[in-house]
Amino acid sequence: MIRSRPSSDLLLIAGAAALLAAACADTESSTSSGGTTVTPQACVPKDGPLPHEHLTDYCFFQGDLKDLAPAEGVYPYDVAAALWSDHAAKQRMIVLPKGGKITFDPGEKWQFPLGTILVKTFSFYDDFRDLSTPHHILETRLLILGDEGWTGHVYRWNDAQTEATLLVAGERVDVSYIDETGESYAEEYIVPNTNQCKSCHERDDKNTFLGPFTHQMNRPVVRDGKEVNQLDDMAQRGMFDGDLPAVTGLPAFPDPFGDGPLDDRARAYLHANCSHCHRPGGGGGSSGLVLLQWENGTQKNGICKEPAAAGAGTGGHSYDIVPGHPEDSILIYRVSSTDPQIKMPELPNRIVDKKGVALLTEWISAMDPNTCE
Ligand code: HEC
Ligand code: HEC
Repeated sequence: MIRSRPSSDLLLIAGAAALLAAACADTESSTSSGGTTVTPQACVPKDGPLPHEHLTDYCFFQGDLKDLAPAEGVYPYDVAAALWSDHAAKQRMIVLPKGGKITFDPGEKWQFPLGTILVKTFSFYDDFRDLSTPHHILETRLLILGDEGWTGHVYRWNDAQTEATLLVAGERVDVSYIDETGESYAEEYIVPNTNQCKSCHERDDKNTFLGPFTHQMNRPVVRDGKEVNQLDDMAQRGMFDGDLPAVTGLPAFPDPFGDGPLDDRARAYLHANCSHCHRPGGGGGSSGLVLLQWENGTQKNGICKEPAAAGAGTGGHSYDIVPGHPEDSILIYRVSSTDPQIKMPELPNRIVDKKGVALLTEWISAMDPNTCE
């Protein structure tokens, strides 16, 4: 059984509706094995200060740990536009404290109750074309909302996939797999250390969450075998502390690799992969390049924008985006590179997101040509 997956389309193909039904707290309280029904042992979360030493201390999962089946009350979610992390498949979950509710905002300013834990688990399949091949879970990252704001923690899984242990330093792991196009990879995957979380999660010197906000969460998902809107589903489960506005009136990112309008898809991709740094207050804010999806069509967006710093990172080009000319655009030059001095995004990625580069190339090619002179 496979729980983490790269996208909800694959999830549908894998016929995983039933898996999710099992995952959702209110639908099943027992699992079947070998024809007999066994009631899983209730897991009791450990007492004491956070973070715990072991992932199992939290009781996020039920059943066999490696199946990543969310425990009762734990909400698995999917974002519309995912962050590229060197091919890793991801599973995301929201764990609210007992009785805790989220204060909804139509933009990014969701407010989570004190004690919320956001959980993201990274794994690789042997063959991404066939999600029934073995998958190897490498790490689970947590963001915990305590009195001092959000703190990041990483748990490294053991080879037996029965436990994950708090990691202080980062780690490099050799992984090999076949991607969804059939290409073979052997790579060194980087598990970041907790200082590195900041490079993306810190804004105005404070850690923040990056995925669960309206544009990313307002999307169809399969729950209990039915396609539903994810925000509606959360509201129905009582996760918000007020009424949710009609979702059709709320902003939504398209799937960057789906069939929505090209401009929307490219901007959703840039938002998900770059805007945590490329925004005022973010780690790439000083470059003046803003890649928020709603910061539309201006020079700040990179169109005919000269880079803040010259040098290797420009590849001899003069502007971040030259409309109609991806080959002259610094943005394409940098996202296509693996050279640490040049490449974007910065660490920890080591592998170019070819689909992402193709999308951005198509996007710039389709702009009204302009030499920027
Ligand atoms: C390269 C940038 C980057 C780094 C480094 C990074 N993250 Fe994230 N993280 C993101 C983005 C972007 C998202 C939201 C999109 C997604 O889930 O795919 C995210 C999502 C998450 C989530 C799910 C909740 C949320 O905020 O959306 C958790 C938990 C998380 N990260 C923890 C960590 C921890 C802990 C570290 C450090 C060990 C870390 N991350 C390092 C970019 C990063
Ligand atoms: C972890 C933070 C981080 C992420 C994520 C990131 N960048 Fe950057 N970026 C920076 C920093 C810092 C600079 C300024 C220093 C430099 O030019 O290397 C920069 C500079 C740039 C520049 C030169 C801009 C200018 O006008 O000076 C481009 C183009 C760029 N990034 C594109 C991207 C794209 C496209 C993405 C997403 C695919 C991305 N970056 C993701 C941190 C980041």
